[in-house]
Amino acid sequence: MAGNWKMNKTIAESVSFVHMLKTAVSDVKDVDVLVFPTFISTNAVYNEVKGLNIKVGAQNLFWEEKGAFTGEVSASMLKDAGCSYVLIGHSERRQYFGEVDKTVNKKVKAASLNDIVPIVCVGETLKEREENTTFKVIKKQVKESLSDLSQEEASKLVIAYEPVWAIGTGKTATPQQAQEVHAFIREIYSQLYKNAADKVRILYGGSVKPDNVSELMKQSDIDGGLVGGASLEVESFIKLVKYFKN
Ligand code: PGA
Repeated sequence: MAGNWKMNKTIAESVSFVHMLKTAVSDVKDVDVLVFPTFISTNAVYNEVKGLNIKVGAQNLFWEEKGAFTGEVSASMLKDAGCSYVLIGHSERRQYFGEVDKTVNKKVKAASLNDIVPIVCVGETLKEREENTTFKVIKKQVKESLSDLSQEEASKLVIAYEPVWAIGTGKTATPQQAQEVHAFIREIYSQLYKNAADKVRILYGGSVKPDNVSELMKQSDIDGGLVGGASLEVESFIKLVKYFKN
C-alpha cells in the first residue's frame, strides 16, 4: 500500500506522520507499507522508519548519474537518502512536466541499476476511455515504458494502473473495470517478459479510499494500491494498510 503525498507536507509534518504511522502498523506483516514524501523530506522520513516495516520512496528521478542538470536528482542520490522505491511516469508528471514513455523507460533503467524499485504508472484519460482506446493506450504505455529490461529487472518492478479520470476526482474505477485492465496489463507483460508476468505487482490508483479498498483488493490481478488524497491523513492511511482486517 503506497501513499503518494505529491506536493504536500513540510519536513516536520512528514516526520510526524510516519512517527504516528510506525506504531499503528508495527504489527502488519503481510502488506508492504510505502510512503512517498517530497524529495526534501525523504531522508528525514527514512531516519524515522529505518529498519522498520515502512519503506520510503521518491516521486521522480533523473536518469543521469550526476552533472550539469539543474534541479534534478539521480537514482544514486535517492538511494543515499534512503529511498528504496521511486514513482515513475505518474500522470501528473506526464500532464504537467512533459514526461513521455521514452523518458519513463530511461528512468526505469536508472532506478533498477541503483537497486531502487520503480513503480511505473500507466493509465488512460477520460477522453481515451470514452473513445474506447483504453487498451490501445495502455498497451503502448506498457510496451514503450518497459522495453529492453532484463528478466530480473522486469520481475522486480511494480506497475501502477491509474486511470487519469479517477485521480483526485472521487470517481473510482469499479473493481471490474480495474480488474479488466490489470489482467490486460499482465497479459501484455507476459508477451514482453514471460517469466516476470506472474511475479510483477500491479497496483491500482485513483480515488482509493478506506470504503472501497477491500473490493478493489479482492480482484485477482490487483496486488495493492497507490493512494494520493486518502494517504495524507494518517488515520485513513492506517485503515488502507489494514484493509484486510475490515
Ligand atoms: P488519488 O491519487 O488517490 O488522490 O486519486 C492517486 C495518485 O495520483 O497516485
